[in-house]
Amino acid sequence: MDQQVRQGRHPAEGLTLPEETLFIVKPDAVARSLTGRIIARFEAKGFEITRLAMLRLTKSQAESFYAVHRDKPFFDELVSFITSGPVVACTIRGNNAVATTRIMVGATKSYEAAPGSIRGDLGLGLSDNVIHASDSAASFEHESGVVFP
Ligand code: CMP
Repeated sequence: MDQQVRQGRHPAEGLTLPEETLFIVKPDAVARSLTGRIIARFEAKGFEITRLAMLRLTKSQAESFYAVHRDKPFFDELVSFITSGPVVACTIRGNNAVATTRIMVGATKSYEAAPGSIRGDLGLGLSDNVIHASDSAASFEHESGVVFP
């Protein structure tokens, strides 16, 4: 199907910002069998899945993935949690993908995330906050390179 029609817009409207982003279903959500429900939300929104894999991040992959947080006090906890079990990594393509995905994901602290967002509906944790999503096009390039080398 034509991409514009599949995403629910009239072809005459055009795509304002077709782009790609990455999300990772974190170990807590994989363990709670939430993977399908989370991916379904992005499919229902109209995004096209471009890559999908279940994998276990190594310590060095996790350290590279979260390099921007290297100096934060929670860095070790972050690496330890994301490597604690399998994750599901997914890249998706669609209009305004980076910003729209961040809105769908919700606030970092799941216990403060708005109902209707993925973290707001499915989580209560901080390290274990269900899902990670790239926060910029540059982050997407870096993070997808680590996860899908
Ligand atoms: P994420 O979107 O994966 O990006 C960085 C992660 O750091 C964030 O989700 C949280 O899981 C985690 N994080 C942020 N602040 C803290 C904190 N104060 N303590 C532990 N983890 C944190």
